[in-house]
Amino acid sequence: MSRPRIVIFCGNLHRPSRSRVLAEALGAEVGRRVPVDLRVYDILDAGPGFGTALARSDLPLPAARIIDGIESADALIVGTPVYNGAYTGLFKHLIDFIDPGRLAGKPVALTATGGGLRHALMVEHALRPLFGFFAALTVPTAVYASEADFTASGDEVGHIVTDAGILARLAGAAEELSRLIPKRIGVAEAVVRPVQAAR
Ligand SMILES: Cc1cc2nc3c(=O)[nH]c(=O)nc-3n(C[C@H](O)[C@H](O)[C@H](O)COP(=O)(O)O)c2cc1C
Repeated sequence: MSRPRIVIFCGNLHRPSRSRVLAEALGAEVGRRVPVDLRVYDILDAGPGFGTALARSDLPLPAARIIDGIESADALIVGTPVYNGAYTGLFKHLIDFIDPGRLAGKPVALTATGGGLRHALMVEHALRPLFGFFAALTVPTAVYASEADFTASGDEVGHIVTDAGILARLAGAAEELSRLIPKRIGVAEAVVRPVQAAR
């Protein structure tokens, strides 16, 4: 049986990134609940030339692969830093290349980080409506963390989520997303099953 593929896409423009750490922490929580194949991308993975592309055919190959990955994923975890009260411009630029029909009904969990708590509801006022446009199935618990909710990890990852309230919200969002992740059945198993059932 192939595992459901979860794509994490994060709008961070540099690494280390708290936003990426938060989105990956949610991915890890999901992985503790259901066996999944996790792939993680951020804006740096989209490659040079991505920012000036105006049509999908102009995209550099790495960016095109991210969009293909998002469209074909079984579920998404989306994250971004808050810039001036909303998601980053390049985050939206990548989302703008997604075929509007390809996210309909797709389970999506939302995360964001900001400098403080002032823009905590941007997950509800900016991110959720964006995925509403796509008719995606966003889970009820969105996770916002501020800089104070992280501790320096001392390695190349840079940060670790340490706030107990954020960890609890991550667990809640992971629980909700896990329930929506479709189970995949591989071809071999689909063929073998009726034979076993007949014995
Ligand atoms: C251009 C810019 C604008 C920002 N605007 C906001 C903002 O409106 N509200 C906020 O809470 N933090 C704001 N921040 C702070 C970042 O959201 C915060 O440091 C975030 O955790 C960075 O995430 P990253 O480590 O993934 O880049 C801004 C930072 C930059 C560079």
